[in-house]
Amino acid sequence: MPTAYEKTYYIETFGCQMNVHDSEKIRGMLSMRGYQQTVSPDEASLVLYNTCSIRDKAEQKVFHRLDTLKRRSKGKKIGVLGCVAQHNGEDIFKAAPHVDLVCGSASYNQLPQLLDRLDAGEKRVTGLNLDTDETYDLPAADRDNPYSAFITIIEGCNKNCSYCVVPFTRGPERSRTSASVLEEAARVVESGTADITLLGQTVNSYRDPSEAGWSFAQLLSAIGEIDGIRRVRFTTSHPQDFTPDIVEAIGSNEKLCDWIHLPVQSGSTRLLSRMRRTYSRDQYLGVIEMIKAAPRPIALSTDIIVGFPGETQQDFEDTLSLLQEVEFASLFAFKYSARRGTDSMDYDDHVQEEVQKERLAILQELQRRIQRKHNDARLGMHENALVERFRDKFQQWVGRTTQNRVLNFDDPNGVAADESLLGSYCTVHVTKAGPNSLIGELVSVDQRPAGRHPQPALRVLQ
Ligand code: 5AD
Ligand code: SF4
Repeated sequence: MPTAYEKTYYIETFGCQMNVHDSEKIRGMLSMRGYQQTVSPDEASLVLYNTCSIRDKAEQKVFHRLDTLKRRSKGKKIGVLGCVAQHNGEDIFKAAPHVDLVCGSASYNQLPQLLDRLDAGEKRVTGLNLDTDETYDLPAADRDNPYSAFITIIEGCNKNCSYCVVPFTRGPERSRTSASVLEEAARVVESGTADITLLGQTVNSYRDPSEAGWSFAQLLSAIGEIDGIRRVRFTTSHPQDFTPDIVEAIGSNEKLCDWIHLPVQSGSTRLLSRMRRTYSRDQYLGVIEMIKAAPRPIALSTDIIVGFPGETQQDFEDTLSLLQEVEFASLFAFKYSARRGTDSMDYDDHVQEEVQKERLAILQELQRRIQRKHNDARLGMHENALVERFRDKFQQWVGRTTQNRVLNFDDPNGVAADESLLGSYCTVHVTKAGPNSLIGELVSVDQRPAGRHPQPALRVLQ
């Protein structure tokens, strides 16, 4: 068994918010086992990489990290977790023989036993079973952000888009019971965190497996009713399952944020069909129309893949025209990356890297103009911001609006009188706008963080 001093760990997380929150749960589990976190891999007896394989670059980064660690790994246990672990399985031991543990997210409930086996002297232990109906629900998540909490409500994905590794790396769709989600949400609010983001790869495909049989909209509404809650967001939604009751729920409760992330991937019906996205351009626009008809304006964001195999200039222009029509408040655009095991890997009409690059730049320039217009329209308005950080360089508070816009502000009139605003909800007068953020001045502090507020989670050995 390791001594107390040996019970130190370092964890680095790559990729999406699901991974960020999985790492928070893993940290909670390690802390219950008496481990302490370190700031660098050098001081740790256990080094964990929680990995992403959505695009090739993300995967290469992990192998680069493992390579760098090789020279410094003596006496350490090294674990590869998450999507790269699941996708590469035991091949990781061949590529990086100094790795001891390989475990995909569908097997995280087994992590304590896998660590016990390593402690008992076993070499090369794996958790790679994808055939599961379990979810990783841990009451003791060690959250990064004391003011804003992630709660996973559904894991895996059943959609099988032709380009995506997620169904192979995270397994089939599994929803938590509404009772367990509500219980966690109530506990989070009780601890003083009034801002919750519900997570899932296709979050709105949620279906309560218990007898209650709640829909996603019912769960969302119930969370919005918790005493003391202020903001509820959810990500990522799939257009196919975006039903009118979700918009009705948001429309009837202001605590449900006026922001929806709805990846479209392409504006061309021909390409959407090759991507196996299960909706056409017109069907997607129908969902957008329904959202835009909500009683409150709702900000929209999306994901786009440029240069998908077979993408013609016309397909690309269809995407540009969709962006002009919808006017997303923000957008994440990626060059298509061929992933092993996916069906689109076998398509033989790949778009040249140069063309992908060029299209990405054109798309981003268009989106910049749209965002500038959106943000300009908010000049002179009052926005509500949850304060997340203080930027020393600009001596400004950094907040986020209910529409998920970044709002930087200062306090020229001394409203907050030098007190920390971290975790407070503030009213801010918008005075400047850029394409990616707003700038303003503090008007009032509306709500301070609750007294029993948890301290920041990262307790590291220096
Ligand atoms: N290549 C490029 N982007 C991808 N995404 C998923 N798979 C790929 C891929 N093979 C993008 C999609 C998805 C986001 C999380 O990542 O846009 O919505
Ligand atoms: Fe991947 Fe499609 Fe599932 Fe999203 S919906 S995780 S893109 S397979």
